[in-house]
Amino acid sequence: MKIKEICPSVWYVGVNDRRTALFEGLWPIPGGVSYNSYIVEGSESIALIDSVHVAEGPELLDNISEVLGKGKVAWLVVNHMEPDHSGSISTMLSAFPDLKIVCNRQAAGMIGGFYKITDQERFHIVCDGDTLSLGDKTLKFTMTPMVHWPETMMTYLVEDKVLFSGDAFGTFGALNGAVIDEEMVVEPYFEEMYRYYSNIVGKYGTAVQKAFSKLQSVEISAICSTHGPVWKRDIKRALDITDRLSRYESEPGVTIVYGSMYGNTARAAEAVAEGLAEGGVKTIKIHDASVSPMSYMISDAFRYEGLVVGSPTYSMTLFPPINQFLEALKTREVRCKVFGAIGNHTWAPSPLPTLINAWAEEMKLPLLGMVKVRQAPDESTKEQVKELVDNMLGQLRR
Ligand SMILES: Cc1cc2nc3c(=O)[nH]c(=O)nc-3n(C[C@H](O)[C@H](O)[C@H](O)COP(=O)(O)O)c2cc1C
Ligand SMILES: [Fe+2]
Ligand SMILES: [Fe+2]
Repeated sequence: MKIKEICPSVWYVGVNDRRTALFEGLWPIPGGVSYNSYIVEGSESIALIDSVHVAEGPELLDNISEVLGKGKVAWLVVNHMEPDHSGSISTMLSAFPDLKIVCNRQAAGMIGGFYKITDQERFHIVCDGDTLSLGDKTLKFTMTPMVHWPETMMTYLVEDKVLFSGDAFGTFGALNGAVIDEEMVVEPYFEEMYRYYSNIVGKYGTAVQKAFSKLQSVEISAICSTHGPVWKRDIKRALDITDRLSRYESEPGVTIVYGSMYGNTARAAEAVAEGLAEGGVKTIKIHDASVSPMSYMISDAFRYEGLVVGSPTYSMTLFPPINQFLEALKTREVRCKVFGAIGNHTWAPSPLPTLINAWAEEMKLPLLGMVKVRQAPDESTKEQVKELVDNMLGQLRR
């Protein structure tokens, strides 16, 4: 258990899930995911911060008893009600019959709905700025609505400066032995932070920014999120990535997402990539939308400055996976892209220019050019590709 001690009397007791193929039924997690839960042991009482998915409740109990022996958990702090963190509340109540659930009013209503726990005596309701004393340790609660649900809050351990941040600063990827960033190679987790943020929290940039402003003056020695590593050494990096993503600020690079049934739209997309590379763009991510999972396409589109979307005409509309991709970006209110498009059709007239223009207008993304292919690329395609590439290079950072 030594490896799981975050600081004196604070332990990681979370679990790994390497069996779920799709998180939230949507997002591939080939490296698994962790559901993080923490114990804070005060001189007078003990709190558990968040629980885990229902399937892992018994394992959470084992982890708790490994830390506490026969010690009893008095408080269950529910920072976030999504069932990946609340699913084992009932298991915790069976194990600790006197347990009080510490949460805000909105979370209490959800606990009634999800788990039929309605006895008000069971709850210790907290509001923004409230504290709870565990003796020599004090928990302070900050409401952070919509990071990622409306009831979301964060809990701060005042004496040790530890922030239990809920889903914020989380990543996909189960924990492979070590828990704290200092004890592992963190790169794969930071890669997954982009995908986690853009897929799960992506729509709520404004709410994340509000949370940032509330936490601005708070000194932090460790961030204990509900997924992925505990950040100690890399706090600044975790904060920076989340701050930038929630401001929709992107990195140099271009994401190209195309659909193609017979390879012709694909060839135009490859030509755009070559032109951009010749112009000095070093990071170019190309996705065939029929092959790449939506999750990775959304992540790259969030992360990089440039975006090119290519689609054949399909029954007088967009190719279905491209339509889905554009809808996903709309849901997440993606902003500030250097945006270009490729359209392909075989018989006239194609509705794609109108459809893509309408999407770009709605998203407030100026369309810098659209390569219009008829059946297969030809000499005129080359000129159009050059024009689009030049327009994009004029705006892209290198
Ligand atoms: C099921 C299906 C529906 C299509 N619908 C249209 C259409 O409504 N209008 C059109 O101009 N082309 C249509 N096409 C032709 C495609 O747009 C054609 O595949 C494209 O011009 C060539 O690009 P690709 O090689 O990247 O698939 C259709 C093709 C298929 C297979
Ligand atoms: Fe969540
Ligand atoms: Fe979560």
